[in-house]
Amino acid sequence: MNVLVTGGAGYIGSHTVRALLAQGHEVTVLDNLSRGHRDAVPAEAALCIADIRNVELVQRLLTERRIEGILHFAAHSCVGESMENPTVYYDNNVVGSWSLLEAGRRAAVPYFVFSSTAAVYGETDITPITEDVPYKPINVYGQTKLMIECMLKQFERAYGLKYAALRYFNAAGAMPDGSCGEDHEPETHLIPLILQTALGLRDHISIYGTNYPTADGTCIRDYIHVVDLADAHCRVLQYLADGGKLRAFNLGSQRGFSVREMIEAARKVTGREFTVIEASRRPGDPAVLVASSERIREATRWQPQYSDPETIMIHALRWYETHPRGYEDR
Ligand code: UFG
Repeated sequence: MNVLVTGGAGYIGSHTVRALLAQGHEVTVLDNLSRGHRDAVPAEAALCIADIRNVELVQRLLTERRIEGILHFAAHSCVGESMENPTVYYDNNVVGSWSLLEAGRRAAVPYFVFSSTAAVYGETDITPITEDVPYKPINVYGQTKLMIECMLKQFERAYGLKYAALRYFNAAGAMPDGSCGEDHEPETHLIPLILQTALGLRDHISIYGTNYPTADGTCIRDYIHVVDLADAHCRVLQYLADGGKLRAFNLGSQRGFSVREMIEAARKVTGREFTVIEASRRPGDPAVLVASSERIREATRWQPQYSDPETIMIHALRWYETHPRGYEDR
């Protein structure tokens, strides 16, 4: 299939580009490189450096390249930043997605796979989280993703678009050979911070909260390997092309690990000791977030291959060892 990947120079997008290429798809990446990296895009994919908000340009690109499926990753995705500067999130995520949808409508692109988030559920006591848990986003980032899911539903009803929204839990890991990985500036995610600390690139790692109602007092999350996420996108694209009717899928491993357990996994994998500081809670962090991903497993036979803490750490470590300063040092 001829596929357009927006945000294909970003973390999850660039891994998905590789999975699509491996399956024989023709891939065009559309990225404005505001947060993505040119070097994250493999040479086999065409790269168009432009903004998704440019409806005319995107429509032309879709038509010229005869695109049949759009995988939409381009977005800002920092929860804290979204609260400090919501207008940027409404512009980039909501206006950006509307522009892309409008270009797709004009170019009659039939399939659309959307990069959504577990943040649409907000804080919930329900565990594991199924797709029908009520949506109560508690931050602007989650709110923008939910608004885009609403737009998708309306575009399907009015214009016949076939779409699926994939709600990721905690994306983590890197290509098994360390050739592609996570490179955010600033970095706020737990696993990169732990590994950078283990490698001596940071002084310490802080645990945000040790008095949560969990076995060891720290937050529990469902870490899903980015290569498993990439595989899920390919399967869902095929699912839509085969006439699949479900529209939202959780992507998680269905197993939760605490912050302390992840630190322990990093100690084991790196064989290094490092400084851990017990700090206060980070506002807005729920105690436990674990997915039920039964729906996508049944619908597409998706089965995570790499989503255990040790494998995630081994692959991410390879990335940081070979790219200590991310993509810029190649
Ligand atoms: N944490 C620490 N110390 C750190 C960083 C994180 O203890 O230095 C803890 C957090 O409190 C949390 C866990 O590690 O309990 C994971 O934190 P991350 O920042 O890695 O990830 P989040 O769970 O906050 O966020 C992820 C995605 C978001 C998405 C959200 C959905 O990164 O984009 O899941 O629930 F919105």
